[in-house]
Amino acid sequence: MLFLQTGLYAQETGSTSITMNKVRLDFKLNAKGSPVYSVYYNQQPVIQPSSMGFILLEDSSMDKNFELLGTETKKVDESWKPVWGEVNSVRNHYEQVVFHIRQKSGAGHLLDIIFRIFDDGVAFRYEFPKQPALKYFTVADELTQFNMAGDHTAFWIPGDYDSNEYPYTKSRISEVDAWKLAKSATEIAVRVAPDQFAVQTPLLLKTKEGLYINIHEAALVDYSSMQLHVDKASLSLTSKLVPDAVGNKAYLHAPSKTPWRTIIVSDKAPDLLASKMILNLNEPSAIQQTSWIAPMKFIGIWWEMQTGKSTWSYSAYPDSLVNGALIPSGKHGANTTNVKRYIDFAAQNGIKGVLVEGWNTGWEDWFGTWKENVFDFVTPYPDFDVKELKRYAASKSVNIIMHNETSGSATNYDRQMDTAFRFMNENGYTSVKTGYVGRIIPRGEHHDGQWMVNHYLRSIQKAADHKVMIDIHEPTRPTGLHRTYPNFLASEAARGNEFNAFSIGNPPEHETILPFTRLMGGPMDYTPGIFDIKGYAPGVADRQIHTTLAKQLALYVTLYSPLQMAADYPENYDAHKDAFQFIKDVPVDWDDTNIIEAEPGDYITIVRKEKNAANWFAGAITDENNRIAAIPLSFLDNGIKYIATIYADAADADWKTNPGAYKIEQFLVDNKTQLKLKLANGGGAAVSIKPADAVQLKAVKKYK
Ligand code: NOJ
Ligand code: CA
Repeated sequence: MLFLQTGLYAQETGSTSITMNKVRLDFKLNAKGSPVYSVYYNQQPVIQPSSMGFILLEDSSMDKNFELLGTETKKVDESWKPVWGEVNSVRNHYEQVVFHIRQKSGAGHLLDIIFRIFDDGVAFRYEFPKQPALKYFTVADELTQFNMAGDHTAFWIPGDYDSNEYPYTKSRISEVDAWKLAKSATEIAVRVAPDQFAVQTPLLLKTKEGLYINIHEAALVDYSSMQLHVDKASLSLTSKLVPDAVGNKAYLHAPSKTPWRTIIVSDKAPDLLASKMILNLNEPSAIQQTSWIAPMKFIGIWWEMQTGKSTWSYSAYPDSLVNGALIPSGKHGANTTNVKRYIDFAAQNGIKGVLVEGWNTGWEDWFGTWKENVFDFVTPYPDFDVKELKRYAASKSVNIIMHNETSGSATNYDRQMDTAFRFMNENGYTSVKTGYVGRIIPRGEHHDGQWMVNHYLRSIQKAADHKVMIDIHEPTRPTGLHRTYPNFLASEAARGNEFNAFSIGNPPEHETILPFTRLMGGPMDYTPGIFDIKGYAPGVADRQIHTTLAKQLALYVTLYSPLQMAADYPENYDAHKDAFQFIKDVPVDWDDTNIIEAEPGDYITIVRKEKNAANWFAGAITDENNRIAAIPLSFLDNGIKYIATIYADAADADWKTNPGAYKIEQFLVDNKTQLKLKLANGGGAAVSIKPADAVQLKAVKKYK
């Protein structure tokens, strides 16, 4: 091995400092021989001196007695083109330094710590080099600290091993109490949050000096998810890995590496939303030929089950097998006639996908019994005609999206996966939505542990082998792996719009927090677009979406995903054809993105340019408070007039009292125009901006 010392200021303690614009990393081995790092932004402390290391089952002292063997540095400034994304080209600009360290005691274990310093923060990972005295080993604990310089405001959800589906709490670090929420959130199927003071990542922090800090991880592969334990007295956050069934955190085999720990920081909130650090830390696409991967919008037989109008199951009785036949309840949503109705609507409106849930047998007792062999993923209910629907969908150029709910029985899915993907290939399904509602099997494993992290990746790879795109519900939260596996279009791993169907729902601020937290790791299948905002849940008068209708439209721009559902019923869209036009028009793949303004918990305004087209789309959302979103259109091409179609809250709209009131107006605009959009309490606005044609140039009035 060659150890270079170039460009570094090294002292006997190994003390090193690297600066990239406003970001500075300091690293040293302290008097105990423990690795210690700190991060500054514009001279302000982001991470106070924090120690690093591990407790291994085989070596409880893998955090001290280290000596520095050498360092290596390199500088990278490159660009790459994502298969799909918010921008068509991503700049990857960083300086890397590797510290090769060795323990002076015991077996003399080797460890490498690799830092990358970006314009917008710092990332690091541990590598265990090949070495004689450390081959197969077990991580009992990772001891990485993130010591905070103050009692910052945190946007957090409980550090639950099995769920990310909580509403966010905004509090001081010292006020974190995961149990309060974990105990009361009975609408979440499985909740396991043993540490009262643990939170999930991505964690967003705001300092009183106005720094925004996001802590998460990138490239989570063959390791368990990192949560953060909060020490209220010292304001220290410590990495806490989700354990397996016997309490271990990860099984490794040297040479091996951990995921990257990421610290993204800026004094401007929009910079966090624009950060590409997590994507950049993931490997380039492992899929060479990607022409079969295509972002899409979809509708589905789905909301009708969420609201209780129809059911996933064919029968109301799990044990109704009389002479081998289930007794139909008459409420089964996934019947051939209904699927055709959705296919017709999709075809008429240029929507590519139709998700059909509840098509396969097993839904009568799918949940809550911890039953292993729950679904087989190939046997349809008697009223779902696979061959006829294959023919019908193809004749209308629509793709039916396969649904594989596993009920948390990952072992069952592992055994069936090859068969399930072959079935998809044979019957024309080019994408699948999987799901993991319930306690995991292997029993004792958790959704966010290493075993399941490997399982989700296996499903993504298997899907890629079969040229199938995948959307995973209830996995661990994403860490940018969609760069490496662009067939991994989206995942849920957060509290989606569905919670508005069956619970107290999502508060109006929810969608202004998600992009700063969960979405930092990757796209979410949030399922926006509900138009019938109140009264959809039989017998529950106050059940409603906690936004206005116009805000539902804005979410197609503010919540980025290459996979976007139009979640409401066809008949509710037919009742608002004018507003539905925005959903028809809005693309799911982009050349460029401008974050105009953003404040977590309060508002977000984003403008994006359609991929390979001259059209722009804007979305502006607010929390429970009304506001005016101003968008200067300076990004438009000079000398060209555009038509802006503005889908806005009506003057008297209000998320609670009058959510359905919207107005749609058209104006001529150019790059000197500044749009001023009035957002109602809990409201939003969506705008499409397209080059004007000759007729529009004459007929449409100028914006003022
Ligand atoms: C939970 C998922 O989030 C939801 O979208 C799905 O309909 C149900 N599980 C059933 O699979
Ligand atoms: Ca879910």
